[in-house]
Amino acid sequence: MLLLGTLQASVSIIPMPQKCIEKRGNFTVNDKTVITLSVDNEEMRNAVSFWNDLFDTAAGFSLEVSSTPRSSNVIRCRLNTSLPNEESYKLTVSQSSIHIDARTPKGIFYAFQTLRQLLPSAIESDKLVTEKVKWNIPCVVIEDSPAFSYRGVMLDVSRHFIPKEDVKRHIDLLAFHKLNILHWHLTDDQGWRIEIKKYPKLTTVGGYRKKTIVGYMWDNPTEWYTKRYGGFYTQEDIKEVVAYAKKRFVEIIPEIEMPGHSVAALTAYPEYSCTGGPFEVEGRWGVFNDIYCTKESTFTFMQDILDEVVKLFPSSYIHLGGDEAPRIRWKNCVHCQERMKQEHLTKEAELQTYFINRIENYLNTKGKKIIGWDEILEGGLSPDATVMSWRGTSGGISAALQKHDVIMTPGSGGLYLDHYQGDYKIEPVTIPSAPAYLSRTYNYEPVPDTIKSLGLEKHILGVQCNNWSEYMYTNAKMEYQMYPRSLALAEIAWSPAKKKNFTDFARRVDANSVRLDERHVRYHIPLPEQPYGSCDKVVITKDTVVTFQTSRPMKMVYTLDGTTPTPASAVYTEPIKVSGNMTIKIATVLPSGKMSKVRTIDVEKQNYA
Ligand code: ACM
Ligand code: ZN
Repeated sequence: MLLLGTLQASVSIIPMPQKCIEKRGNFTVNDKTVITLSVDNEEMRNAVSFWNDLFDTAAGFSLEVSSTPRSSNVIRCRLNTSLPNEESYKLTVSQSSIHIDARTPKGIFYAFQTLRQLLPSAIESDKLVTEKVKWNIPCVVIEDSPAFSYRGVMLDVSRHFIPKEDVKRHIDLLAFHKLNILHWHLTDDQGWRIEIKKYPKLTTVGGYRKKTIVGYMWDNPTEWYTKRYGGFYTQEDIKEVVAYAKKRFVEIIPEIEMPGHSVAALTAYPEYSCTGGPFEVEGRWGVFNDIYCTKESTFTFMQDILDEVVKLFPSSYIHLGGDEAPRIRWKNCVHCQERMKQEHLTKEAELQTYFINRIENYLNTKGKKIIGWDEILEGGLSPDATVMSWRGTSGGISAALQKHDVIMTPGSGGLYLDHYQGDYKIEPVTIPSAPAYLSRTYNYEPVPDTIKSLGLEKHILGVQCNNWSEYMYTNAKMEYQMYPRSLALAEIAWSPAKKKNFTDFARRVDANSVRLDERHVRYHIPLPEQPYGSCDKVVITKDTVVTFQTSRPMKMVYTLDGTTPTPASAVYTEPIKVSGNMTIKIATVLPSGKMSKVRTIDVEKQNYA
């Protein structure tokens, strides 16, 4: 008889499906298994092609894809209009066949993402698996549909640039977890990252900075990394990444920031500022006073840029930023003051609205809608704008009350992945506000109660995590900040809120870590922490205990004899008794045996008085 525990251990899908019934037995994929398609077209072939890529690489065989029905050893994919929406799917795995029903190829694709998580993790290997693996899939019946249509991740490639191959790798990981939007933050004070043919200096000048601040921006004295730093994507790169994302049902929304966060662009073209410059591409982090001027020529400049941008991105949205734009330059600029007079504006905040409105109107003529950070509410909201609520949830609530669409991404809700995910004393340097431990991200509920009580839920399109990269110096650091918290995002964006259970989620994160290992993802493993602030030295005057905890339930192992702990070392079950001088070495360990870094804590005994 199968024990319930065994069943639970075998099925650890993230995000948790809406309905999942586990059955007895397995379907085994082998080189005779055939994938059949009810409609044989390019999109359907695309929805299954990555499956064959996985098998080709890891198992050394691929499956025949055909439209001829088969009764057994088949993965039968059928388009079926009775499913609730275009991303829904129904998946029935029995010992002789797998049946997938979906309304669109996108639903078929998501069913295959679920199947991937039911296979042995070796399927994710990037080379032929030489041990004998049976490619078993446990029998299940799954009915699944997303909670939200917008399930996004923002990548800031301005503060630190990541090459297109790394962007593709992120897209693979997003799609694997049924996330469907990549918000690509392409421009900011510290670097302009998208080639614009009409204004080549945007990238040749604006794409590079002379120096970069090291550590926190308020550290005194300031330390600089003085090597020239930068990079950008050519339009050919952009097309390649957009096509790559499309194949994985990920939509890319580009962000071209305005009117603030524009020092890189103004370094290249200072004539579009209020003061005329000169400027330097910023090497510090923060908010800067020099922003685009509202003179007429700026709008021509912005429109020319957007003409090129809209051609590269098929998304119906363009993100215009709109956040953190100080108005001090506008206050002191003859052009901006003249503009306010002409337009009968009394406050500079309304000039920001004028700026965003004008660009929105222009983009509407190109068939595009705009998204902006919640500052775009301040001088009055543009007619059709979607608001990204980042300064808490009030911006999102206010926009929904005005019947605007909203994407929730509050920094205070655990959705800023540049915030700490563990004790700041032992985690690598990052943004020190509002800690975003995995449980906080996971427990975020995207629909505020006010919105529910007013029946305005339909205006909450979804939810997004932001990866601001000031402290994500490399792609490795970005992955460390993103995983596993992006899995929590996937679950709050996809799974029904009533099914949320952090303990079970933490178990599935542990179980799935081997899949991330196969893909060489450099994810965060919680460290043993001390409850009142972690430190490397504990001074005692009497026999006492040293207590440890982890940011999610984890096994901890330790030694007291100076040796490096292994998965077989003493398991931490209660505070460690200490007396006299000694050394504690302690680490966490995943079910796979993979360990965190080892922490060493010296205990020093001092005599009382
Ligand atoms: C933001 O975090 N400045 C949108
Ligand atoms: Zn001006």
